[in-house]
Amino acid sequence: MSKETNRVLGHADEADGIEEYDNPLPDWWLGLLWFTVIWAFGYGVWYHFISDRSQEGKLAAEMQAAELRWPEQAMAEVSFAITPEAVAAGEGIYVQNCLMCHGGDLEGGIGVALNDDEWIHGGEPEDVIRIINEGVPEKGMLTWGPILGPEKVNQVAAYVLSKNAELVGE
Ligand code: HEC
Repeated sequence: MSKETNRVLGHADEADGIEEYDNPLPDWWLGLLWFTVIWAFGYGVWYHFISDRSQEGKLAAEMQAAELRWPEQAMAEVSFAITPEAVAAGEGIYVQNCLMCHGGDLEGGIGVALNDDEWIHGGEPEDVIRIINEGVPEKGMLTWGPILGPEKVNQVAAYVLSKNAELVGE
């Protein structure tokens, strides 16, 4: 089955005298190549359309499993809005947890005033929510996220923002 020839490619001049035969690839080698090409095509069709192993499907399944395993993180998606209900719920949380440091009128004390328009960490809702969640432990402001959970953090943030000069002054 040898298709070997004595034909040479004739580029010895450019290749320091090294000559190369012009032989076709062996059948077994070509056969393997075609086998992999056909296999890849069939496997692609099977992977994407028959077994439905899509990346999106896998991700969705993993996210679902994660939500079951860490429900409190899934809840971090709770929405934030300064509604009368959120403010009323937030007031109760404030009185219980924050009043002793930030004062009955948010005027400050051990903690900083929250009713003026000066913010150390920013006055956008996401800043306030982040600071309540993460705290500033080295200054005595606790990490409230794990204590209160995302819903209560959002409510107390709504209360703080509703009392803030920037918002009230608008
Ligand atoms: C033990 C005292 C203490 C308690 C209790 C406390 N805080 Fe604080 N809080 C602080 C201190 C001190 C700071 C200032 C941190 C700093 O200097 O960076 C602060 C900062 C903040 C800030 C950022 C203010 C700014 O200017 O950026 C917010 C918002 C806040 N607290 C909200 C709350 C809320 C809501 C609660 C209740 C869930 C609470 N704090 C409970 C002591 C406290």
